[in-house]
Amino acid sequence: MERTLSWLPDGSPYSAHYGDVYHARARALAQARTVFLGGCGLPMGWEDRASCRILETGFGLGLNFLVSWASWQADARRSTSLHFVSLEAHPVTADDLLQGVRTLQAGDAQEAVLLSRMQPLAEELARAWAQLRPGLQHWDFDDGRVRLSLGIGDVQAQLPLLPGPVDAVYLDGFNPARNPAMWSAEVIEGVARLCHPGTRLASWCVAGAVRQRLQQAGFEWRKQPGLPPKWQRLEARYLGPTGLRPGNAGA
Ligand SMILES: C[S@@+](CC[C@H](N)C(=O)[O-])C[C@H]1O[C@@H](n2cnc3c(N)ncnc32)[C@H](O)[C@@H]1O
Repeated sequence: MERTLSWLPDGSPYSAHYGDVYHARARALAQARTVFLGGCGLPMGWEDRASCRILETGFGLGLNFLVSWASWQADARRSTSLHFVSLEAHPVTADDLLQGVRTLQAGDAQEAVLLSRMQPLAEELARAWAQLRPGLQHWDFDDGRVRLSLGIGDVQAQLPLLPGPVDAVYLDGFNPARNPAMWSAEVIEGVARLCHPGTRLASWCVAGAVRQRLQQAGFEWRKQPGLPPKWQRLEARYLGPTGLRPGNAGA
């Protein structure tokens, strides 16, 4: 398992292998909350439910996991359980996980509260990280109410092993030009196989080829205003197996 992460002078985590940042330090929390949780209709989507299962492509520094877990914990109407399913080919170290949270910047008071909630969760995650091995593992946190299922290996090999159905999907590979394996038609189809009609999907990526693959796999999509420097972000919804759905609402 090759480690590809290095830290840029401004504190952003960077992969020289993929020529892209994991996240830009100053916007990381806003991106997780607006692009991924917000794009999937969360936290509202898990409120007053028995369970909520989120699938992510690209665990990276666990930022989306930690933001989801901390936001879930803070929500008085949270689902009884939260199951976060993610996959990663190049796991970072436990020190990198902790460094990732230490270097985050809160943009406002709400983010400052979120960040203070994330810190102890990151420490719990870093402790579990000692057991990390290739393949699929399941770790329970929060007295068993939060489960992380982590598939360590290539996305295409790991997807069929992951538990479904999922209620929300975060598509979070690196830039598709540099990291095409994370956005291939086979991967999008593998994601769709884990969805149920109504599953929400979100990404920072609005590339035409990705939108087309989503549509072919049974999703309708919409571009939404993005967070600077990106103009747009993507929200999508799974309608069902290809051929059993009405026309696409994408624009
Ligand atoms: C933008 S980062 C993900 C950031 C992460 N979601 C977070 O919240 O910290 C993209 C991740 O995809 C992983 N990745 C790239 N190619 C992959 C592949 N073929 N299979 C599995 N993971 C891959 C990278 O190692 C990297 O951790």
